[in-house]
Order: sequence, then structure tokens, then C-alpha cells
Amino acid sequence: MKAYRASILRFDDAGNAVFDEDGYLLTGPDAKGQPVVRDVGAWTSFASLYPGVSVAHLPGRIIAPGFVDLHIHYPQTDVIGAPSAGLLPWLEDYTFPHESRFADEDYARAVAEVFLDELLRNGVTTALTFSTSHPQSVDAFFGASQARGLRMITGKCLQDRHSPDGVRDQTEQSLIDTENLINKWHNNGRLGYAITPRFAPSCTDAQLAGAGELAVRYRDVWIQSHVAENLDEVKWVRELFPKSRSYLAVYDDFGLMRERSIYAHCIHFDDDDRALMRRTGAAAAVSPTSNLFLGSGFFDYEGAQRIGYHYGLASDVGGGTSFSPFHTMLAAYYVGREGQTKPGLSLSPQNLWWQHTGGAAKALGLAGVIGNLQRGCEADFIVLNPKATPMLARKTSVARNLDELLFAMIVLGDDRLVERTVIAGQGG
Ligand code: GUN
Ligand code: ZN
Repeated sequence: MKAYRASILRFDDAGNAVFDEDGYLLTGPDAKGQPVVRDVGAWTSFASLYPGVSVAHLPGRIIAPGFVDLHIHYPQTDVIGAPSAGLLPWLEDYTFPHESRFADEDYARAVAEVFLDELLRNGVTTALTFSTSHPQSVDAFFGASQARGLRMITGKCLQDRHSPDGVRDQTEQSLIDTENLINKWHNNGRLGYAITPRFAPSCTDAQLAGAGELAVRYRDVWIQSHVAENLDEVKWVRELFPKSRSYLAVYDDFGLMRERSIYAHCIHFDDDDRALMRRTGAAAAVSPTSNLFLGSGFFDYEGAQRIGYHYGLASDVGGGTSFSPFHTMLAAYYVGREGQTKPGLSLSPQNLWWQHTGGAAKALGLAGVIGNLQRGCEADFIVLNPKATPMLARKTSVARNLDELLFAMIVLGDDRLVERTVIAGQGG
């Protein structure tokens, strides 16, 4: 067993922060040997409960749950910052040509290593990431993740139409490849598979139907896709799928909405779409830096809260502009302030942080496993140095309460704030 003394940030089941200014975190193996949080609480009670357990004392540091990125593209690590008129030209001009390089597994593995380095430097310990349409891009990513003991989820992109040579796949083979990859990787250690139709316009009816059949046969794999991101895209989907009530309804019509399905963006929704999200248990991956960069629009927090469906935060790199959860949380705050049809929403710092940790884990169906530091959660956590930069030091030292402390870090923080990232109890 290993114990740490520091300030400890965690969340209750409703998403309210629990903060022990002088606290302890005790980690050790569970019954299956997986390193987990064995106990957490106020330092004053530690010595009587755990005499003889040695303690790493981290004065002035905050231990917090590792961040969970609900939607990202590892193959787009080098696409960050590609300017474009909007989503569809961005895909054609930059993203598809770049992704064609991932047919080469060695290249894919090298990018996967850079991507994982970047996630960890930024304190992200689990991501639901797209791979490309090449099965070897999935093998490369899972291989790299497994070597580091990470809990990661990915899947091979399905895109059998409206995609150029080099990334377009073949309907039948794409479904065979998906099933083989599920059998090879899903629940292999900490890894999980996601059935990954890229977005409705890139998939034929036959491919979507096949994906839906796999989603029924493999109930605990994830599903990930994009929906209602951009107005040109929404119009295109209406032309391609005239029988479906809405863009989101296309996925429902093919059996692709259920718990463990994560849809990126969810911007151009009406209340029937929101009700469909709620009824099916699907979740939105809110991607504010991407939406601002590509000019896609603003996630409607008021609508999501009013109807009540699951959502969490995501970087969506390379449409998104940063790996840093602090940048993403700040962008989400801007969207809440200025991007709403009903003005005046002010997302609290505790809620923003929850959306990128425990809330994102809940959206994935992994509440109590990752994204929190309650007893039994896997021991993936970060050590923050709130004095990492001169401005952070000034601002956090005058914080009068937890909200002010969290806000200072959200507004001023980046990878410099993350002193260490501990994976499965290792690295601390
Ligand atoms: N829609 C289909 N593919 C993509 C992608 O790679 N990025 C984003 N942001 N939207 C998409
Ligand atoms: Zn995306």
C-alpha cells in the first residue's frame, strides 16, 4: 500500500466537489490485483487508522482525479491548427489526406506514442479516441496504451462512402475487421473497443446497419460518432437520409443509440433530439475548442440541463486546439456565458471540473472506476502544483474558497500545472 499526504480533490455522486485541504490518499491492489483507491480522507485520522504505512508528503500540492477526454482523434495530433472555412473543407483538405498515412502501422505507433505522452503531460488518463479506418491504426494505439498500463478506448473508423482513396473502407470487410478487433482488444486488460462510424454521411445504410448489429451482439463495447456539428453537414444528412426525423435519429434508426454511445458535438439539436439522448442513455461529448475553432456553433447547456441527458467534456483534437483540460474547461465556460440562446448561464468551476472527470466517466458508464478518487476507483490521478507559474502562484494564494481556487487553475492553467501523472499507482 502507498499513501500520499496533500490536498485532495474528489467528487460525490452528484458531482459536488469534496476537498480535504490536508488530506490523505491510500492506494493498493483490489481483489483482482488492480491498484485502486483504498481510502481517502482528512489527514488527522490517518495515523490512527494506518499505523506503519509510509507516506509521501507533497506539501502545497493538490491530488486530483486524472482527466477523462470523451472525444479525441489520436491520428489528428499533427492536424491541430489547420485553418479552414468549416468542417467539410477541413476534412477534405487536411484531415483525410493526413489520416491516409496511418495505413503504415509503424507510423501510427510513433504518433500514438507522441499522443500518449501529450495526454499524460496534460493530466488526461483516459480518452475515448478515434483511430483511422485502418485496422493497424487500432493495433498501434492499443499496443502503445497497453505497454503503459493505460485505460483507453478506441475503434476503427467506418467510412465506406464520401471518403477519398486511402481512407475509404469496404463495407463487408470493415465489419469483419471491427468484429476481429473487438475480439482481440475489448476488455483485454484495461482496454475497451468502440464501434466507430465516422459520421452518417461517410457510411452507407449497409455499413450503419452492420454497425448496429454489432452493437446488439456486443452490448458492453462503446459506440462513438459525430452528430449535428455543422449546418452544412446537417443539411447534407437531411438529403442523404430523408426518411429519418433528424440527423441524430439516423443513428437511432440503425440501432446505434444506447448506453455507452458517445456522440461528439450535439450542437444543432431540437428538444426531440435531446429527449432521444435521454431516453437511450447516450451521451454528448462537448467539444468547445473545436466548435470555436471550426466555427461550428455552441453546445446548448441550458437545453441539455432542462431535458436532462448525459454529457461531458472533450478536446476533439485536431479540430480542437489543445490537449489541455484547463483550456477545454475555460472554453466551455465561455460557451456557457455567451453561446446560449437563454443568456446568463454561468457554469461553476466545480461543474466544469466534474464534466472533465467524474461526469465524463459517468457518460462512459465508468462511474466509480475512473474520473474520481472515491474508494474503489482505479488509482489514476494527477499531482497539481498550484504555484507552477508566477500568475498561478499569485492568484491561488489569495483564493478564499474552493471555487476561487478551481477557477484560478481553470483560467490560468495548462500542462505546467500538472506536476505528475500517476497511472495505476505507478509514477508517483
Ligand atoms: N466529422 C466527421 N469526421 C470528423 C472529424 O474528424 N472531426 C470532426 N470535428 N468532425 C468530424
Ligand atoms: Zn471528432
